[in-house]
Amino acid sequence: MKHKHLLVVLLLLVVMALAACAGSQGEQGEQGPPGPQGEQGSPGPEGPPGPEGPAGAAGADAEMGDLTCTECHNDGTELAGRATAWADSVHGMGEAYVRGTRASCAGCHSGGGFSAKVAAGLNPDEVEAGDPNPTRQDCRACHQIHVTYTGEDWALETEDPVDFYAFEGVTYDGGDGNLCANCHQPRRGIAEPDADGNIEVTSTHWGPHHGGQGSMLMGVAGSPDVEGSPSSHATMVEDTCVACHMGEEYNHSFEPEVERCQECHTDMESFDDTGLQTEVQEKLDQLEAELLARGWLDEEGHPAVTFVPAPEAYALWNWIYIAHEDGSLGVHNPAYTRALLDASLETLGLGGQ
Ligand code: HEC
Ligand code: HEC
Ligand code: HEC
Ligand code: HEC
Ligand code: HEC
Ligand code: HEC
Repeated sequence: MKHKHLLVVLLLLVVMALAACAGSQGEQGEQGPPGPQGEQGSPGPEGPPGPEGPAGAAGADAEMGDLTCTECHNDGTELAGRATAWADSVHGMGEAYVRGTRASCAGCHSGGGFSAKVAAGLNPDEVEAGDPNPTRQDCRACHQIHVTYTGEDWALETEDPVDFYAFEGVTYDGGDGNLCANCHQPRRGIAEPDADGNIEVTSTHWGPHHGGQGSMLMGVAGSPDVEGSPSSHATMVEDTCVACHMGEEYNHSFEPEVERCQECHTDMESFDDTGLQTEVQEKLDQLEAELLARGWLDEEGHPAVTFVPAPEAYALWNWIYIAHEDGSLGVHNPAYTRALLDASLETLGLGGQ
């Protein structure tokens, strides 16, 4: 019986709850569609500035040692010593940088022009504008100074192999020396003979323009009648130019060190130890005297601007290349230098002396 009462009470409760819900639903009318948006009101006036906040806690003093600048700018001689040697070098003192205002010269003659050329991935003859503020071949030309502002910036501007732009299919791949070969490569090879068998000497600056060291090491850029090949100094000396011209301590005079030669030629006391440089100089003198006598060279060592029979033009070209442009008196490529000189002497009837 008790259970029946409870059930009745529960049922009653449920019925009341349902009635309450239905009632409230019924009272709410159906929602109408939203009205149109009203016009935006004009902004209110600016409020007064808030009160000043409390002062922050004092920051820690920056220690000099925390600045990455001091990885280079410090009391040591790592930077200063290099800067001193560089300032006395031809890169640091020469006047050739002023040519960097011209587009065709900027890529090699201005340090800044060189950096821009490398960044753009251009050959020197593809540079379209001169550098209005040419700089010497300075720290920034060869190193990535002030890029990350850490010691990482001593990294070289480029170490990529260099495709010689004047000689198709010739790539200089000599480690860190690739940096140097970008600029120390010739701008042109010798022209083909014309229909009469002559070659035109186009100006008093005719020749494989300056910086023929890279090509000499590779055994190219001399007269076409002589076959050359890369010297042992290009293939066996790690980092090529940098090894011989800067040594283990990276001297920034860029003058070669005889200690480097001794790593392979143990008893070598001077660059002319084997007599190679003396031999080359003697042959150059012989050639020069004959070229002068024939009128192809003037007293100042400039070529005569005229048409020269091809074989003699070859001899003239080789003389300019070895005497003026390469400057190592045979060391960069002993075999190729000898072959060019001997062929030239032969042409002028001075062979076998
Ligand atoms: C990779 C080494 C290196 C680092 C790191 C470095 N510098 Fe330099 N800085 C150089 C060299 C190299 C020069 C040129 C020195 C010369 O020509 O004698 C130079 C020159 C300067 C100069 C002289 C003006 C100029 O631009 O030639 C100032 C100023 C200077 N640095 C400030 C700084 C500051 C500030 C930092 C850190 C934020 C810094 N450097 C980090 C290597 C560095
Ligand atoms: C013609 C290119 C050239 C110029 C200009 C030049 N350097 Fe260098 N420097 C080099 C080469 C190449 C190395 C060897 C670096 C290597 O093999 O990583 C070197 C190495 C150095 C090192 C040693 C870095 C290391 O990683 O141990 C310092 C320091 C240095 N140079 C400072 C300078 C300063 C300062 C200047 C400017 C006054 C300067 N260099 C100008 C080519 C150059
Ligand atoms: C940005 C182009 C450039 C780079 C890179 C460069 N040089 Fe030079 N170098 C020149 C120019 C231009 C001259 C002539 C400077 C002058 O007479 O004012 C020169 C001059 C020299 C000389 C002096 C030649 C003489 O007549 O006495 C030597 C040695 C030399 N460079 C070696 C090197 C070596 C080694 C490297 C690589 C570590 C190198 N150069 C990298 C452009 C460059
Ligand atoms: C591929 C790089 C390169 C280009 C491009 C180049 N030069 Fe040079 N030039 C050199 C190098 C490297 C030397 C230094 C050679 C040495 O001393 O053995 C040099 C040296 C010279 C010199 C002798 C140094 C002097 O100032 O007395 C003259 C002149 C010269 N260049 C003029 C020019 C002119 C003008 C242009 C542009 C029309 C030009 N060069 C373009 C690399 C180049
Ligand atoms: C095997 C070592 C060796 C290598 C590798 C080498 N050189 Fe030389 N270089 C010499 C010697 C030695 C001389 C002659 C120095 C002398 O007679 O005083 C010389 C001469 C030069 C000269 C002429 C200097 C002057 O006073 O006229 C230049 C410029 C030059 N080298 C640049 C380079 C460049 C750039 C490279 C790399 C492309 C290079 N050398 C690779 C050893 C080397
Ligand atoms: C990595 C080893 C190596 C270094 C470093 C080196 N050479 Fe050589 N050199 C050779 C080789 C290999 C030959 C070719 C074999 C030969 O003719 O003895 C050679 C040939 C020569 C020759 C030709 C000999 C002749 O009269 O026919 C001369 C000269 C020479 N080197 C001078 C130098 C000078 C100077 C230096 C330093 C500026 C130097 N070498 C640095 C390996 C080296």
